[in-house]
Amino acid sequence: MQIEKNSDTFLKKLYPNTSEMILGSTITELRKIKNQKFDLIITSPPYNIGKEYETKTSIEKYLEFQTSVIKELIRVTSDSGSICWQVGNYIEKGEVFPLDIYYYQIFKKLGLKLRNRIVWHFGHGLHAKNRFSGRYETILWFTKTDNYIFNLDDVRIPSKYPGKRYFKGPKKGQISGNPKGKNPSDIWEIIIQDWESGLWDIPNVKANHPEKTTHPAQFPVELVERCILALTDKNSWILDPYAGVGSTLIAALKNYRNSIGIEKEKDYIEIAYQRIEKLKNGNLKLRPINKPIHQPNPNDKIAMIPKEWTNLFNEV
Ligand SMILES: C[S@@+](CC[C@H](N)C(=O)[O-])C[C@H]1O[C@@H](n2cnc3c(N)ncnc32)[C@H](O)[C@@H]1O
Repeated sequence: MQIEKNSDTFLKKLYPNTSEMILGSTITELRKIKNQKFDLIITSPPYNIGKEYETKTSIEKYLEFQTSVIKELIRVTSDSGSICWQVGNYIEKGEVFPLDIYYYQIFKKLGLKLRNRIVWHFGHGLHAKNRFSGRYETILWFTKTDNYIFNLDDVRIPSKYPGKRYFKGPKKGQISGNPKGKNPSDIWEIIIQDWESGLWDIPNVKANHPEKTTHPAQFPVELVERCILALTDKNSWILDPYAGVGSTLIAALKNYRNSIGIEKEKDYIEIAYQRIEKLKNGNLKLRPINKPIHQPNPNDKIAMIPKEWTNLFNEV
């Protein structure tokens, strides 16, 4: 078992599994991989929004290219395997195109079955002026067959009311919950801040988050960990075809799984290997999985209405 320190770093430990970052283009590298190698493919693909690592194109061309990648991904997924596709919105002249709606059609046509559309909710982000501020992205979890790996017990979370009992029927008086905790549901509140160490309630991986690197669109290791624990077994093989700075590889290694990442930017690959080394040496800062989200104390200055605003309220 992994031993976690309170400080969000992890004790030096032996991690025997493989983590390999391949430098290259996803489609070319995928063609070299044998059929059914992976139990899980998990990724956050480029969103076609003009980040520094992508060239923005029309949504039609973008989706056409991704369809060719997805066909290869399905080929390298095992029959008991899953694909988790984490996306947000593509935005064109203020109009929102929810990418999961487009992607769902592609996966469905290629014969995959959706098991959950997971909402990853976070508390902070850009403040929109002409629409409501976006505070979630989604993970589409597909399986290749009906016979898939799903280890619910490995991702249960503490129940809010563990002492709850049936109040009627044949089980009246018996405890209604599961001693291992409850199903984490399809809305994931993954984030956040560490108030004590001066960090804000950080949703996605932005400045001040313990995991932040120079990559502009990292996803939190904790988000990947839950998918890995539930959808693969120890020593399974996991692929991230758009691996960035290796968050998937970190989550896999930490949980005794093998992983491969494909990434076209050499700098990100170097950072990924540095993070892997840090994990092995016990000094990678990570938010531990299932760490409760910080609730500000109403007496904290930061949680109070500033005195500059109290006059405004008095005037109304
Ligand atoms: C949204 S980021 C993924 C970040 C990653 N989840 C992490 O936590 O670091 C997408 C990544 O895909 C890479 N990428 C984009 N197009 C690619 C391609 N055709 N082949 C390989 N990598 C690509 C980008 O350089 C970028 O790092």
